[in-house]
Parts: sequence; structure tokens; C-alpha cells
Amino acid sequence: MKALVLSGGKGTRLRPLTFTCAKQLIPVANKPILGYVLDQVAETGIKKAGIITAPETGQYVKDYVGDGSKWKLDVTYIPQEPLGLAHAVKTAQSFLAQDSFVMCLGDNVTGQALSTFVEKFQKEQLDALIILKEVDDPSNFGIAQLDKNGNIVRLVEKPKTPMGNLAIIGTYIFSSKIHKAIARIKPSWRGELEITDAVQELVNRGFKVKAEILDSWWLDTGKKDDILSANAKILDEYIEEDVKGSISNSTIEGRVKVDREARILNSTIRGPCIIGKNTVVEDSFIGPYTSVGDNSQILNSNLEYCVILENVIVKNVERLEESLVGKNAKVTKKQNSATKLHIGDYSEVEV
Ligand code: TTP
Repeated sequence: MKALVLSGGKGTRLRPLTFTCAKQLIPVANKPILGYVLDQVAETGIKKAGIITAPETGQYVKDYVGDGSKWKLDVTYIPQEPLGLAHAVKTAQSFLAQDSFVMCLGDNVTGQALSTFVEKFQKEQLDALIILKEVDDPSNFGIAQLDKNGNIVRLVEKPKTPMGNLAIIGTYIFSSKIHKAIARIKPSWRGELEITDAVQELVNRGFKVKAEILDSWWLDTGKKDDILSANAKILDEYIEEDVKGSISNSTIEGRVKVDREARILNSTIRGPCIIGKNTVVEDSFIGPYTSVGDNSQILNSNLEYCVILENVIVKNVERLEESLVGKNAKVTKKQNSATKLHIGDYSEVEV
């Protein structure tokens, strides 16, 4: 069995960060989301992974994953114009050959290992196993309808009148039959080859298509607020107290990770939080669910529920909350001064 990890796409909803970074590399708890996805792939024992990349951001993905040896994976990069998830599979066809494969989205994380799904797929000799999760707002998702034996009978993208609340989360396992199904489908109204259409094609042709319902959390980090929620969830699940940097005249409360060479001076840090390597926090308060990347400076400011990337300066900001700040950005406040901005295209600022 192989893995296909989709790390291409356009990432329009995360501009301007995606002008200089692949969205799958935006960090949560100071580690790129794609890193968590590859951890899960590696845990299954799969050795060969294809990584789909987009023309603009492929190099960033390659720089991070390299030859995959960090995950003990033999990685093949597969460049793709972002024309849909089924188009990504089609582009990867020669890499996948006749093998079954796990397909994951590089910007989605779940709290459940993939191994049990792989075992079910193999034991029951399925042609597709689609992972689903109950959602409150089914009209915003691809929704699957099941029979009483857990077979998928119908899939509908963003149904106006939902026929259930089981959303397709973006983790799939396929046999090589999927390639013929993809060859038969046509692009949707949005011009993309949709994987839901290909799965429906498998169902229509009588192949064994089953579903499994995730009994853990699932986070799709497509937008700013999703990144903040994923960051909070991962900090909650994985961060233990681990202070390697220097602390002077400061209070550290709860589960806080301070990387080596970071300096905390005259400040309070309340976990769960992570402070990156060589970062300085001075005369500041850093509240729960905040990640600050490497080489940043937080000076005379209060932050809570934020994701701050590398090499950022935040200075004299009384309250910065629910914010995502990209690499090399500066956020400063001058007393009694008008708001002055120098921000990238597609930025969002609430003052
Ligand atoms: P999406 O989030 O659906 O699409 P997108 O990345 O183009 O983002 P936006 O809507 O903000 O413009 O993609 C889900 C995942 O699949 C994501 O990791 C990117 C990846 N993907 C590909 O690799 N190839 C594709 O053709 C598409 C559409 C997505």
C-alpha cells in the first residue's frame, strides 16, 4: 500500500500567507500541519508516499519534507495544476500504479491513527473506505448517505437539503479501481474533477465502498479561524511543560514549552503555550492557546489565542487576540498616533 498526500491547491482563503508559503506548512504549535499528516502516514507502516504539489508552492513543500527520511518515507513529488482532488489522483496514476493507497489532505489533521482504517480496508477487501465525521452544518460539506451495513449509497457535495450529517473529511483509502472511475467522470460546475463524483461512480458500478466514522476530532485548516482552533487543539493535546530557555523575573503557569535560547523577561506566560527558539518575550503577557515561532520578539504586549510565525515583532500592543501573524511581520503600536499600515495584498486587519 502507498500514500498520496495532497499538498497542492491554491490556498486562496489563506492569502496573503499562501503567497510565500504552502498552506500545508502553516504551523500549529510551531510545527507545520503537513508534519502531523506525515506522522500519521508513517505510523501505518506505509513506506512509499507521493506528495502532490502546486506550481507556486511546491518548492516550499520540498524544502520542508526533503527526501522524507525524517518520517522513514520514500517520497516522490508529483506536481499538479490544482484542478481537483480526483485530478490529483489522475496525475499520480503512474506513481500509484496498481497499488491500493491512503489519500490524505495535507492541511487536515485528526486525532485518530490511520492504522485501524487500513486494517479494515484490507480485511474486507474494499475498493474504497471513506472516513466520515458528524457535523452540525451539513450544507457546508460533502455528505455521505449509508445503508444499515455501512455501505455508501450516495454522496452529495454541499446538499441544500441534507440527507444526513456525515461529512467526508478528506481521508480515503482506494484500490486501483478508482483510476477507471476517475477516467469516466467529467469536471464539475467549478471546473474541477471531484473525488466525490469518482466515489459515486464506484458505488454506481457496484464496487465495495464503505464508510468509517471518525471517533475523534478533525480539523480542516483552510481558513484563519481553523488554524487558530487547530493550534488550540494541538496545544491542548500535545504540549507538556518543558522549559529550556531562560526565565527571569517571570511567571510560567500551566503547560508551557519554551524552546532553547528563548528568553522570558518580566513577563507572565499562561499555558498551554509554546514559545519558539531564540524568541524574546519581555514585559508581556502571553495567554493560553498561543504559539510564538522562532526568532520573534514580543515586547510590552498582551497576546492570547494567537498563532505568531517566525521572525515577528509585536511591540506595545495592549491586546492582540485571535490573530494569525505571518513570517517577518511587525505589529507595533505608537501612543497617540493614527493607525498606519503597510500590509500585503488580501490581508485582513480589524482595528
Ligand atoms: P482545498 O482547501 O479544497 O482547496 P485549495 O487548497 O485550493 O484552497 P482554497 O479553497 O482556499 O483556494 O484543498 C484541500 C487540500 O487538497 C489542500 O491540502 C490542497 C489540496 N489540493 C491539491 O493538492 N490539489 C487540488 O487540485 C486541490 C483542489 C486541492
